[in-house]
Amino acid sequence: MEELRAKYLDAIAQAADEAALEDVRIAAVGKKGEVALKMRELGKMSPEERQVSGPALNALKDEINSALAARKAALVDAALEERLSSEWLDVTLPARRRGQGSIHPVSQVTEEVTAIFADMGFAVAEGPRIDSDWYNFDALNIPGHHPARAEMDTFYMHRADGDNRPPHVLRTHTSPVQIRTMEKTGAPVRIICPGGVYRADYDQTHTPMFHQVEGLAVDKDISMANLKWTLEEFVKAFFNVDNVELRFRASHFPFTEPSAEVDLRCSWKDGQLRVGEGDDWMEILGSGMVHPKVLAAGGIDPAQWQGFAFGMGIDRIAMLKYGIPDLRSFFESDLRWLRHYGFAALDQPTLHGGLAR
Ligand code: PHE
Repeated sequence: MEELRAKYLDAIAQAADEAALEDVRIAAVGKKGEVALKMRELGKMSPEERQVSGPALNALKDEINSALAARKAALVDAALEERLSSEWLDVTLPARRRGQGSIHPVSQVTEEVTAIFADMGFAVAEGPRIDSDWYNFDALNIPGHHPARAEMDTFYMHRADGDNRPPHVLRTHTSPVQIRTMEKTGAPVRIICPGGVYRADYDQTHTPMFHQVEGLAVDKDISMANLKWTLEEFVKAFFNVDNVELRFRASHFPFTEPSAEVDLRCSWKDGQLRVGEGDDWMEILGSGMVHPKVLAAGGIDPAQWQGFAFGMGIDRIAMLKYGIPDLRSFFESDLRWLRHYGFAALDQPTLHGGLAR
């Protein structure tokens, strides 16, 4: 009995985990364990022997059971300790490792453009992206039969059956904001309007939604010279070059007279654009002197006031400045693209901090 006691107490102390301990329990005090077998032998004993061995065996069984229970409690504690020390989690860490978003190039360039024009005294105006065809076309001297309506690949909004009013449109340019601003503030006016516009077109340099910035200055003595100076100042600041050369090419828009498209002298070397040098010209905007009919549509007397206006493609100048080859990628929300071309959230464009990277 002393042998059994030593054997099992030792085995219990050695058991490395709960499964090993359970094996020891079965071998010692299980139904067919050694202690149980010994108990069965009691029947064959004389009453005297039984009186000694019975209580001794019961005491041994109790001792082994309490040793098992103590060892089990110790193993459970140790296992918990082990888990607690290996499975810890620092709940103060940020939830995502790459948790920073980035500023989209369109947003960044919009901020850059706004900072530059703000410095020249232009306020920011806004208008709706869904507009009436009067604001988008008629007020801008584009009557119903005018070919420009077709040329603009307009998206028309569906009217309910039986509603015969002209349909609203997704604005095809930011020019309707000229009219809305003139109506609201009267003359003089000095605003830019950045925002999304829509045309049914899709290829490497066209997407059905893109961005323009409109400019409008109305005052008593505005001329093409003011337009030219303003645009040159803008391009110098935006592309961070001193020697810009702009080419004003005679053109036609219904809402300006005279009208000019403006090209930027540049060169393409190894796929890299250089502004201000070379033999290439890149068209960046449409512009002109505001047509008298447009001033009148905005409630301003064309006999007293004149103005210049321009409309520039924000995405287009973002592609030029930051070397982004395909316009369609701007709007695909591909995280790899956004991480590559996106801007740090704190990298805000300011004139004193510099606009070029
Ligand atoms: N609205 C014209 C366009 O979308 C651009 C423009 C604006 C031209 C203002 C002249 C004056 O192409």
